[in-house]
Amino acid sequence: MSDIVNVDYSTKIPNNVNLTEDRQVLRALEGWHPGYIDWWKTMGPNGFQEALVYLRTAVSVDPKGWAKFDYVKMPDYRWGILLAPHEEGRTIPFGQHYGKPAWQEVPGEYRAMLRRLVVIQGDTEPASVEQQRHLGKTAPSLYDMRNVFQVNVEEGRHLWAMVYILQKYFGRDGREEAEQLLQRRSGDPDKPRMLGAFNEATPDWLSFHMFTFFTDRDGKMQLESLAQSGFDPLSRTCRFMLTEEAHHMFVGETGIGRTVQRTCEAMKAAGVEDPGDIDKVRGLGVIDLPTMQKKLNLHYSLSLDLFGSEVSTNAANAFNASLKGRFQETKIEDDHKLENSTYPVLKLVDGEIKRVDEPALTAINMRLRDDYTADCQRGLDRWNKIIDRVGVSFRFQLPHVAFHRQIGEFRDVTASSSGELVDAATWERQKDKWLPSKDDGDFIQSLMRQVVEPGKFASWIAPPRVGIDNKPGDFEYVKLAA
Ligand SMILES: [Fe+2]
Ligand SMILES: [Fe+2]
Repeated sequence: MSDIVNVDYSTKIPNNVNLTEDRQVLRALEGWHPGYIDWWKTMGPNGFQEALVYLRTAVSVDPKGWAKFDYVKMPDYRWGILLAPHEEGRTIPFGQHYGKPAWQEVPGEYRAMLRRLVVIQGDTEPASVEQQRHLGKTAPSLYDMRNVFQVNVEEGRHLWAMVYILQKYFGRDGREEAEQLLQRRSGDPDKPRMLGAFNEATPDWLSFHMFTFFTDRDGKMQLESLAQSGFDPLSRTCRFMLTEEAHHMFVGETGIGRTVQRTCEAMKAAGVEDPGDIDKVRGLGVIDLPTMQKKLNLHYSLSLDLFGSEVSTNAANAFNASLKGRFQETKIEDDHKLENSTYPVLKLVDGEIKRVDEPALTAINMRLRDDYTADCQRGLDRWNKIIDRVGVSFRFQLPHVAFHRQIGEFRDVTASSSGELVDAATWERQKDKWLPSKDDGDFIQSLMRQVVEPGKFASWIAPPRVGIDNKPGDFEYVKLAA
């Protein structure tokens, strides 16, 4: 293993970027550290700072063995700065600077644009920790409790990753941005987080699993496109973050899968045939499938908004500047400059939803969103297989892209979940059919009871098939403080 793969744990901040010899950046990060810990203690998992949690910590960037598992008190977690190994001779894979050597320093002409991309990504990381801070109190098992804490500490590390980029490459304004990242708060009316979905509440575990499935997956797509960046340090940072991100989506997908399975099995056992017989299904202490579909509609539509406008000059500029590429850019066969190509975009034309060919360069967001939708659909297919296997007749579907949108082409219209445009009065009358109602929320809330006996699970969710780090079913993932 090269030095770049091994991580220096002798410094306060574990890293593979040779911080000991980068005094100025080390000092800046050490200056930022107390504020971060303060933020973690006040805005991180509420009530569990003393608990011993069986957590994964990144100790290397070697894909074959990058993590170790151990019991850790969360404030003692070793949040490190880890970049994927430097690739000798890496060239810029897209945009105006296609084919030139990747930049090791910030290109002056793109400084502001690049800083903004880093800040927007950075802002989402602490936001989700804030959104999820009360979930430990209603965890359906110690296994699930450990999973939310794992996601939280890693989002904390992702914040470190972005703050390192800001402090190393953006001087004084980078330090100011790093400070601001600790000041904004999810859902705060005066100093909210930057993006809509990161200011929504995560009131229950179904929301948490939907969030990690849909919203962390937006994160994955954003990181994938930043991992293509011509600015090499950003590319390397994002590539390593993606390694951790996969677990977040696993938590979401399997969390929902287990919820679906439990519901279907309870229905079968009780002889309830109709998934729409909500009262009967709820009477079994499980979450009915139509309510899960409504939660899915909500989280998918909120997450679509994160991709920005379908047609966007900002996105075109970032691509053109070789700062933010497409999903799996290097695997796409085209000129990687998008000088003459088009891309189909759903738009509102004379009150109708129509497919319109737009210049591919301005449709970059749309393309990324389409890749995202395809990735989401694969998860839905797996949930539908669980339903089929138990023998219940129900299918999850992604709602139409025009449904419940705040950003882009469809922000000013109201549409049903299947994409028919409806007037405002119809929307008001029908919206509880498509989005979780107050009653749905109250019902889900009524099931949210903490279960802390090792190996036991709340009524509404099935146990996982395998434990974390291959631990047995009754493993004590969290040792609660006495
Ligand atoms: Fe993250
Ligand atoms: Fe994540």
